[in-house]
Amino acid sequence: MKALVLAGGAGSRLRPITHTSAKQLIPVANKPVLFYGLEQLRDAGIVDVGIIVGDTRAEVMNAVGDGSALGIRVTYIPQDAPLGLAHTVLIARDFLGADDFCMFLGDNFLLGGIQDFVKRFQDSDADAQILLTEVAEPQFFGVAVLDDAGQVVQLMEKPKDPPSNLALVGVYMFRPVIHDAVRAIEPSARGELEITDAIAWLIGQGLTVTSHRVSGYWKDTGRLQDMLECNRQVLEGIETRIDGDVDESSELVGRVVVQRGARIVGSTVRGPAIIGENTVVTGSYIGPFTSVYHGCTITDTELEHSIVLEDCTLDGVGRIEDSLLGKSVTVKVDRRAPRAHRLMLGDHSVVTLP
Ligand code: TTP
Repeated sequence: MKALVLAGGAGSRLRPITHTSAKQLIPVANKPVLFYGLEQLRDAGIVDVGIIVGDTRAEVMNAVGDGSALGIRVTYIPQDAPLGLAHTVLIARDFLGADDFCMFLGDNFLLGGIQDFVKRFQDSDADAQILLTEVAEPQFFGVAVLDDAGQVVQLMEKPKDPPSNLALVGVYMFRPVIHDAVRAIEPSARGELEITDAIAWLIGQGLTVTSHRVSGYWKDTGRLQDMLECNRQVLEGIETRIDGDVDESSELVGRVVVQRGARIVGSTVRGPAIIGENTVVTGSYIGPFTSVYHGCTITDTELEHSIVLEDCTLDGVGRIEDSLLGKSVTVKVDRRAPRAHRLMLGDHSVVTLP
């Protein structure tokens, strides 16, 4: 069995981060969200992995390399434009060959792995298998309708009037017949080849599409609030580990990870929280559910329920909450008159002032 991992896409809901960076590489508890999926595929015995890459291909290729560090073999499949999930199957035809495969959306996070779901598919006669979970707002997801036997009878992409609250999780299993389906369908109203249409085509041909419920935590990290919630969920499971330096005047409360080369000086860190390699926290408070990535300098600042990417500088800015800061962002106090906010923000940036 092979895997097709999707790490292209537009990422419009996570702008401006995605103007320059791959959303699949945003760290959750200081590990790129994509890596959790790749590790789960490996743990399910799937090591031959094709990764779809788009505009951010250089960054993804630099982070994942040939996959050997993660115990997988990676083939990169460039997609010129984000023309839809089913389009990625179309362009991966040569890589996938005659094999069954697992399609895994690179920005989806599933706690507990996929071993069980892969085995169930391999032991079954199903032509495709989808994973479902109950959600509060099905209108934002692909939605499935099941018959009494649990077979999938209908699929819809982001329905205005959802017929069920069962959303599709971004992990699908396919037999090679899916290649006929993706060639048969037409682009949707939004101009994409939809994987839901391809699966609906299978159902229309009388083929069997089974579904399983995901009981554990699942998140599509495509929006800021989902990313922060996913980070919170993963930090809930961390254990204290101090590989950096914590001076005597600092206090660590609860489960805190201080990575190699990091320094905590005259500060309080209240976990669960993770402080990345070579990050220096001085005279500051880092509150629960916060991940600070590598090489940051945080001085005289309070930070809580946030994700900060590498090489950021925060200096004397008071309290920051519920925030996602991209790479090399500087937020600092300027005491010159006139007192004013002085900003240089990328396109689609959002600043919320108290
Ligand atoms: P989405 O999050 O549905 O799409 P998107 O990345 O374009 O984001 P947005 O809606 O915010 O603009 O995509 C799910 C995953 O699949 C994600 O990891 C990106 C990837 N993807 C591709 O690789 N190619 C594609 O053509 C599409 C649509 C998505």
